[in-house]
Amino acid sequence: MKQSLRGKHLITFDDWSKEEIESVLKTSAELKSKRAAGEITNLLVNKTLFMIFFEQSTRTRNSLEAAMTQLGGHAHDLTAGKMQISHGETPRDTAEVLSRMGEAIAIRNCFYGIGNEYLRKIAEYSSIPLISMQDDIYHPLQAIADLMTIREHFGGNTNGLKVAISWAYATSHAKPLSVPQSQILLFPRFGIEVVVAHPHEFPLQKAVIEKAEKNATNNGGSLSFVSDMDEAIDGADIIIPKNWGGFAFFDDFADDDRHLCAMKDHLDRHKDWILDDDRYASSGGSAKIMHALPADRGKEVSDSVLDGENSIIYDEAENRLHTAKGLLSLLMGS
Ligand code: CP
Repeated sequence: MKQSLRGKHLITFDDWSKEEIESVLKTSAELKSKRAAGEITNLLVNKTLFMIFFEQSTRTRNSLEAAMTQLGGHAHDLTAGKMQISHGETPRDTAEVLSRMGEAIAIRNCFYGIGNEYLRKIAEYSSIPLISMQDDIYHPLQAIADLMTIREHFGGNTNGLKVAISWAYATSHAKPLSVPQSQILLFPRFGIEVVVAHPHEFPLQKAVIEKAEKNATNNGGSLSFVSDMDEAIDGADIIIPKNWGGFAFFDDFADDDRHLCAMKDHLDRHKDWILDDDRYASSGGSAKIMHALPADRGKEVSDSVLDGENSIIYDEAENRLHTAKGLLSLLMGS
């Protein structure tokens, strides 16, 4: 299995088989144990990962760079502005040149309607793996770390586990659709019952929902939608209170100033979409709390819930490192 993943692109785990995903999870768990035991794991000596960020990042940037260091290789921390991308160099030229110099390219480009297309262009011309560090549709590195975290807390058999993914109010920035979309695609493939709640102004993308429904049908999980946070979280094993933007709803006039004004108006109507103590208690009060971070504390979720005894947000963040190591070692290793 290790051999078969070498050189593979990762834009979404929907392009990968369950066996391939299991291989990443297994290798990630092994590397996590070895780090805990203080073992050296020089699996990528003299190998280079090029990381190109079009947006900010704490977890993705540092988990991948630390992963490369701990595997004996090196990561270049790049932005479009540091490269000739900012002067219009084409995806083909960027991909062809980096392919001659290193062993993998990783890109974050979340611009709505642009990011995924850009990554696919790079992948088309890259002879080394292209790894998505998040685009406007998918965030596979987050989803795999989430699945590892869920298994650690609930055991390997996730059949029938109820995960509530609820839209929540936030103002820090326009958060992409990619985290919830990758979660609804991946979790039902492992038998998880996913319930999504959101105000009607903040839908997920139709094509992604349709694929996620097929994944659920084919794998014994489920995917359902409600319009109320309380209904979604009632009796859940895991609650993910997470903002996402209204980009899909505004396809007709994206990049227009009216887009941002309308988004703000819609946001302001939904300040009550917060997971606070009362709401959490009424859901049963025992669900684990997950969040990809960064969180809008006091808006998406109260400090008391996010820092409460059932929160596993830092386990989730830590697993970004271990899953990055598992993935990189399989894609870039010999
Ligand atoms: N969850 C996540 O991707 O975090 P960063 O934006 O900090 O990388």
